[in-house]
Amino acid sequence: MSALFEPFTLKDVTLRNRIAIPPMCQYSAKDGLVNDWHHVHLAGLARGGAGLVVVEATAVAPEGRITPGCAGIWSDEHAQAFVPIVQAIKAGGAVPGIQIAHAGRKASANRPWEGDDHIAEGNPEGWDTLAPSAIAFGANLPKVPKAMTLDDIARVRQNFVDAARRALEAGFEWIELHFAHGYLGQSFFSEHANQRTDAYGGSFDNRSRFLLETLAAVREVWPEHLPLTARFGVVEYDGRDEQTLAESIELARRFKAGGLDLLSVSVGFTIPDTNIPWGPAFLGPIAERVRREAGLPVTSAWGFGTPQLADGALKAGQLDLVSVGRAHLADPHWAYFAAKELGVDNASWTLPAPYAHWLERYR
Ligand SMILES: Cc1cc2nc3c(=O)[nH]c(=O)nc-3n(C[C@H](O)[C@H](O)[C@H](O)COP(=O)(O)O)c2cc1C
Repeated sequence: MSALFEPFTLKDVTLRNRIAIPPMCQYSAKDGLVNDWHHVHLAGLARGGAGLVVVEATAVAPEGRITPGCAGIWSDEHAQAFVPIVQAIKAGGAVPGIQIAHAGRKASANRPWEGDDHIAEGNPEGWDTLAPSAIAFGANLPKVPKAMTLDDIARVRQNFVDAARRALEAGFEWIELHFAHGYLGQSFFSEHANQRTDAYGGSFDNRSRFLLETLAAVREVWPEHLPLTARFGVVEYDGRDEQTLAESIELARRFKAGGLDLLSVSVGFTIPDTNIPWGPAFLGPIAERVRREAGLPVTSAWGFGTPQLADGALKAGQLDLVSVGRAHLADPHWAYFAAKELGVDNASWTLPAPYAHWLERYR
């Protein structure tokens, strides 16, 4: 029996299976506005059969974009551009989710295929960045950010709230706060990036404050009956992993108490020099620990992209939902073929006849 094709219910939302497509930046927006590229890309992914499609890191403010091509939702016009895309994801049978984000000190970068580094000083394409402290990430991202004032912190928190409200108005049914990958939320939590001496830095409570306040503020506008989730890097692989993981699990407990419904367990990526043990499903045991010790439903990504690994992680109780990213770029019908490979009878339910009729016989 496959676990991957069991439905998953969180709050009032039921996914048709346990396959989530995690947020994947397309770097193809103009002035933050999504367009036909995003529409075709996301509609195709939804039609392919996953239960949940989470739209890429979408900036809550212009300076929170990673690159000039990143999507945004800082105005009603930006939110409206998502409406046909949300409808297309629903028409494909998936639940439409969105990750709302602020890139902090990693913002103002070139697209990955144009260098993945900070836009050079003096280039008008770039912009000033914000972070808890005036400390650069380093390596290819050397730009020194401005240390946020208390007013900056309050404004960005409100940007998250406004973004969540607009996402709801656009029809999204699942929201993910991007607190991972060295971006703003993660960098408030990490001592590598946060050396503040006020109420937002230093102790565990203080380093958690921006994340918990933002969650609480978003919870006020995001309806109780819809999933409110976050992505967070629970470990950095910087040699202090047991301590970081223990703190992260305590934070996950506080997320839960603050109304979080699910955590997407990831890596911190707060500093360039780390020892990440890349390998198939390597975060599985860590996600299991977070799930068990924090008592929160979890998903995770990074190398779960074969049907056996994905199904196995669910059966082992590591995950509630499996996030499969790049394998979906390679084959938007990943879910369809996973069902076939796992011997799930109703494998053709996800595809419309003009595809299903041919793919039934294809492999
Ligand atoms: C093209 C691309 C863009 C990505 N953009 C985001 C993003 O917007 N937000 C995020 O949290 N992770 C992002 N990621 C990470 C993915 O969500 C996912 O964690 C990663 O691809 C590993 O999962 P996989 O092994 O199934 O591909 C991106 C990954 C790729 C390949």
